[in-house]
Amino acid sequence: MIYDKFAKGYDKVFAPFERRFLSNWRKETLSYLLENARILEIGAGTGANFRFYPQCESAAASEISYKMLEFAKGKTEFIELVQADAETLPFAANTFDAAFATLVFCSIPNPQKAFDEIKRVVKQNGKFVLLEHIRPKGLLGYGFDILNFFTVALIGDHFNRQTAKLAEKSGLKVLEVKRKAFGIVNLIICEVIK
Ligand SMILES: C[S@@+](CC[C@H](N)C(=O)[O-])C[C@H]1O[C@@H](n2cnc3c(N)ncnc32)[C@H](O)[C@@H]1O
Repeated sequence: MIYDKFAKGYDKVFAPFERRFLSNWRKETLSYLLENARILEIGAGTGANFRFYPQCESAAASEISYKMLEFAKGKTEFIELVQADAETLPFAANTFDAAFATLVFCSIPNPQKAFDEIKRVVKQNGKFVLLEHIRPKGLLGYGFDILNFFTVALIGDHFNRQTAKLAEKSGLKVLEVKRKAFGIVNLIICEVIK
């Protein structure tokens, strides 16, 4: 898993972006989660979102990379950490009221499978909120298509995903898409429809 290699330096590399805009985007993403709910994070990484979790009944943070989870461990006592692939989540149907992911769906090999899993483990009408970099519209999109060849080969990161469209195709109801950074990043708010 490529993120096992990135784990040690991850927080340091992201620190300048966190200071400038990323922390604010994280806060906004998690503000769509209701309080006192059962929530699930997908691809929690080193736990960069933990400080923005709302008051909740229970919280689980899933992540495929054991090494990323090692760093996440130091940031929480309350959140249950679970090593899991988003494409095969180890939770029973309807376990959660809501779920979210930040900067994850670009790395998942089969996003359709992951969306299907979200639909299974989140209850009917529950929210699924994503913050993702995506293929922007217009000429820039073609640049991202080229970039994608390299990023997929080197780090398994898809730079031309149209994540809101994929979510819709998977049967999630996309309630709102908020464009950030000239449309390179989207905050996508979905509702689970079974
Ligand atoms: C760019 S990092 C983002 C981490 C964190 N969500 C954040 O916002 O800082 C992408 C994360 O997705 C995880 N990931 C990639 N594929 C995954 C999968 N199939 N299932 C679960 N997590 C996955 C990686 O291990 C990595 O921690």
